[in-house]
Amino acid sequence: MKMNICIAGLGNVGSHLVNSIKKNNEFFKNKTSISFNITGVSAKDFKKKRIFDISEYQWFDNPLDLINENRCNVLIELIGNEKGISFELVKKSLEKKIHVITANKALLAKHGFELFEIAEKNNVLLLFEAAVAGGIPIIKTLKNNIFLDNIKKISGILNGTTNYILSTMQQENMDFEQVLNIAIDKGYTSASEAELDIGGFDSAHKLTLLASLAFGSNIDFENNYITGISNISILDIMNSDKLGYKIKLISEAYLSNKKIYCVTEPKLVKKDKPLANVDGVLNAVDIESDHLKSLFLEGEGAGGRATASSIISDLYEISSNSNIKSLGYRIKNLKNYNKFNIDDIESSYYLRFITKDVTGVLSKITSSFKDSFISVEKILQIPDNNNKKNVIPIIITTHKIKKTKLLQAIKQIEDQEFILEKISIIPIHNN
Ligand code: HSE
Repeated sequence: MKMNICIAGLGNVGSHLVNSIKKNNEFFKNKTSISFNITGVSAKDFKKKRIFDISEYQWFDNPLDLINENRCNVLIELIGNEKGISFELVKKSLEKKIHVITANKALLAKHGFELFEIAEKNNVLLLFEAAVAGGIPIIKTLKNNIFLDNIKKISGILNGTTNYILSTMQQENMDFEQVLNIAIDKGYTSASEAELDIGGFDSAHKLTLLASLAFGSNIDFENNYITGISNISILDIMNSDKLGYKIKLISEAYLSNKKIYCVTEPKLVKKDKPLANVDGVLNAVDIESDHLKSLFLEGEGAGGRATASSIISDLYEISSNSNIKSLGYRIKNLKNYNKFNIDDIESSYYLRFITKDVTGVLSKITSSFKDSFISVEKILQIPDNNNKKNVIPIIITTHKIKKTKLLQAIKQIEDQEFILEKISIIPIHNN
């Protein structure tokens, strides 16, 4: 069997994909009797230096011509725009009954519902293993393997750039801006796209897709609460370290009282937990189901070669005439869950107060806590001899409390004249 493939977008992922198909075609054929045949490619710049010889492939200036003029069974979209040409190309391909594979999480998180509906109507697949956690086969795990498990919760580290920044800040005792510049130099993110990563949006796009697969919820990006990592100070990382935690950008989704909880935010994670030990650009996902206490998958969350592996697994799924749906569910069976109210979320918190070193500070802080029924778990007050005189950091961890109650107390405390800096508030991950 021969499968004709067109590829739109030849960046790092697209180039590794072309390379791998060329190098491994015989190997694929021997294993599966399928031959992958690249019948057309399109990208921004024909002349760009690439890791493969572009002249071996039929070139199209306009990606839409890949599906207009070319025999194509599968269109692979690697352009990566949130809408625009990516949306148009995917939509038109599906309407022409061409299967689509994409790595574009922003496109699917924002417009997936419409696109999956078109795919279903036209009886073709829209597959996206490469869109979430690079080379980790998390989509097929949820959709093909444990689809009939009752999933309780998904927690993960879904963005390599932010994980690299937080890990490096901790390991090298460097501040956020310094490490962000190194991440840009290393090509993990770019100055123009950094906000997508460090703002937590890329993780939230991926969480939107995971939540839909795990809970059968409609794909709705608006369900997310998102906090990025740019306010995480090296002081908080070092204090967390002393308390036995690392700070990680955690994305978590679950259902509670028929409401959906999808939150991406920096959290303190106990050092003995697997998620705390996922360092550098790696990603990981921890799934809890009625059968599995913890299914932990860790691996390369980005990069050309790893992500190409996910695309090839989607090609294999299409070639197997899989009757599994793109999302596992029929579109009409997806449910609209109400969004969880962030004020109802209960968590323990890490708090850092920078205060004047004068009599009565602690009692005033704890008195505000008492008024809001906040119970203190630990207090750390270690004078820093290099620091300014009469200034002291006070680190407090709390027992579980509703966010509204915490903010009520914080508001009272931050109005006090002994508070010298904005109070740092970071939730503590509970598993
Ligand atoms: N910018 C993403 C990351 C790439 O850093 O993880 C893969 O989605």
